[in-house]
Amino acid sequence: MSDIIFMNGKYIDSNKATVSIKTHALLYGTSVFEGIRAYYNEEHEQMYVFRAKEHYQRLLNSAKILHIKSPYSIDEYMSQTIELIKKNKYKKDVYIRPTLYKSTQTICPGLNNTEDGYFAFTIPFGDYYDMQKGLNLCVSSWRRTSDNAIPPRAKIAGAYANAALINTDAHNFGFDDAIVLSENGQVTEGSAMNIMFIQSGKLITTKTTDDILVGVTRNTIIDLAKDLGIEVIERDIDRSELYIMDEAFVCGTGAQITPVSSIDKRQIGNGEMGKITAQLQKLYFDVVKGKVTKYKNWCVGVYD
Ligand SMILES: Cc1ncc(COP(=O)(O)O)c(C=O)c1O
Repeated sequence: MSDIIFMNGKYIDSNKATVSIKTHALLYGTSVFEGIRAYYNEEHEQMYVFRAKEHYQRLLNSAKILHIKSPYSIDEYMSQTIELIKKNKYKKDVYIRPTLYKSTQTICPGLNNTEDGYFAFTIPFGDYYDMQKGLNLCVSSWRRTSDNAIPPRAKIAGAYANAALINTDAHNFGFDDAIVLSENGQVTEGSAMNIMFIQSGKLITTKTTDDILVGVTRNTIIDLAKDLGIEVIERDIDRSELYIMDEAFVCGTGAQITPVSSIDKRQIGNGEMGKITAQLQKLYFDVVKGKVTKYKNWCVGVYD
């Protein structure tokens, strides 16, 4: 099935979007990207792109770290996203993947004197995980790349080899996914999502300087929790603390808010979705679908 994508300034058929096998980004993983969701609200007959501005700001930050020049402003990325969804006539939940990449054809990993390209495509996208059934996670034997190796703060495609090893080994060992520790043994996040905990009614998560991708979903949940009167604590988390939290959930654009049932075969709470997780999950889904007036400014409507 063909669809319309945006590549280097043009809306084209996805079958015609090609790159050379000599492309720097393909050879060295030198591209930065975003994962954005747009949700369809049947009642409003509207597609809402969730927190696009924040995603594009992060894209620009990732690009800066990797010496990629952005050809567009945040506003231009936003209008292209809306146009792309309109051109594909979507009336269902979709995932948007904007990517800035090193387009030069060269056998040298250096980033100086190289050219940059841009594309964005969309795919229909439902739930990544079962939203009700909790995940059984393990702690990965792999470590997250540190800020001084490949900074997790930047969404760099090459760094996802790390996520791929973590996720694949977790599956091969019979788990749904894995939590990954930093080089110094502290909790960072999941393979490709952030992680949050509830203990004594407080929301606990890692700090922005703990070798994580600072998730747009993470920041959203922190705001929602504070508005619900839940105290939020961002701090270092030890591995053994994972086993004794009252509730746990993973969060991200893909993962949304998915409860965690067990970690390394230790049951979390009663093994089912915790009360506060359920409360946050419900509010989150109302918010992303543009149902909550207070947060409507996070949802960009596509259709006039
Ligand atoms: C490594 C990693 N951490 C965290 C997240 C969550 O980020 P966001 O909520 O911005 O999607 C993602 C992407 O979903 C990710 O790939």
